[in-house]
Amino acid sequence: MLGNFSYCNPTKLYFGKGAIGYLKEELPKYGKNVVLIYGGGSVKKNGIYDEALRLLREAGKNVAEIAGVMPNPTLEKLYEGMKIAREHKADFLLAVGGGSVCDYAKALAVSVHCGEDPWEKYYVRFEEPSCEVVPVGCVLTMVGTGSEMNAGAVITNREQKLKIGHVFADEKVMPRFAVLDPTYTFTLPHYQMVAGIYDIFSHICEQYFSGEDDNTSDYLAEGLMRSLLHSSRIANKDMQNYEARSNIMWTATWALNTLISRGKTTDWMVHMLGQAVGAYTDATHGMTLSAVSLAYYRHILPYGMKKFVRFAENVWGVDPAGKSDREIAEAGLSAMEAWMKELGLVMNISELGVTGEMVKDVAGAVLVMQGGYKVLGREEIEAVLAESL
Ligand code: NZQ
Ligand code: ZN
Repeated sequence: MLGNFSYCNPTKLYFGKGAIGYLKEELPKYGKNVVLIYGGGSVKKNGIYDEALRLLREAGKNVAEIAGVMPNPTLEKLYEGMKIAREHKADFLLAVGGGSVCDYAKALAVSVHCGEDPWEKYYVRFEEPSCEVVPVGCVLTMVGTGSEMNAGAVITNREQKLKIGHVFADEKVMPRFAVLDPTYTFTLPHYQMVAGIYDIFSHICEQYFSGEDDNTSDYLAEGLMRSLLHSSRIANKDMQNYEARSNIMWTATWALNTLISRGKTTDWMVHMLGQAVGAYTDATHGMTLSAVSLAYYRHILPYGMKKFVRFAENVWGVDPAGKSDREIAEAGLSAMEAWMKELGLVMNISELGVTGEMVKDVAGAVLVMQGGYKVLGREEIEAVLAESL
């Protein structure tokens, strides 16, 4: 482990069937005025909304609601929520939904008492909150982002065609607790389930594909990836398999709760490419990542050869006998491609609505990160996007 770091994760997790019952222990810790936040209606259909509301009422809370938080939550929706939370004098925000709802709740938490425009402060200048942060709790219904145990909040500015994530350093932005009941994910459509699975895989890769030192984080990452591959193949055929779905849920949390990034510079370019595609298409997050990944990894392979060889052998079980490093590394990516196709992921950005004419504009919306094996220039970004069409 080269480099110094600190590590703290204050989010308390309640995992397993019926875990929502722990709201009885958590809710009394916060004030009376609660804002219940949810998405486009799935929680009303599957009964999770009723259960959460019942527990809030039993705890004597005064509840206001923010409904209709869309996938890839927008800045306009954030402004709308700020008004509701301010009028309600919110003491606590309860997010019931997927990453979009959890992210939105965190963005709202730092905006309710913010005297400035939150977009400018948090998504242009990337500042930390200088105001009171409203505490957030999450009841997770969709698995993938890790938002339940991290301080990330991604917001889309539709007007400016920008989708930007801010991972706050302030631990107060992290959910105080998260309820993880794998059965809550059973009503997800297959498309969302596999998009979430790929999001998890991508989070692990983004941290794994950086650095040259022998680092415990990489061994943890390989273990998480192997568990995910195993469980994803079972869940892909049998979506109601509790053992597989519960492993996927737990893997998602550990894939992006800061643990496996310790001592790593981290890459995040697949996410930067995917977010730019998302800003132009509003496509499902995980699918924007699957659609650009192979072109990106094949492009950077020569610069991170050693790690790609290790990835092929330790994650995909590629037999190195008789192969050059390049052949081993490429076999690893081919195995990854086969798994992606088996799950039914979106493999190119044209399927998401990006055309050849749009490539230059989309490339212009890509933030360039410095921590991976190759810092991409503008032409390389355009080439990777063109290759992903
Ligand atoms: O809106 P509803 O009706 O609830 O439907 C949602 C939505 O359409 C549906 N869904 C969720 N739970 C369900 C369900 N449908 C049936 N049964 C259930 N139990 O699934 C759809 C997608 O939900 P969403 O929350 O958008 O998905 P996800 O969890 O993938 O979140 C995506 C957002 O998180 C951001 C993404 O950029 C995107 O904006 N990310 C957040 C990160 C973080 N905080 O660290 C990191 C990630 O890389 C990611 O960028
Ligand atoms: Zn992601």
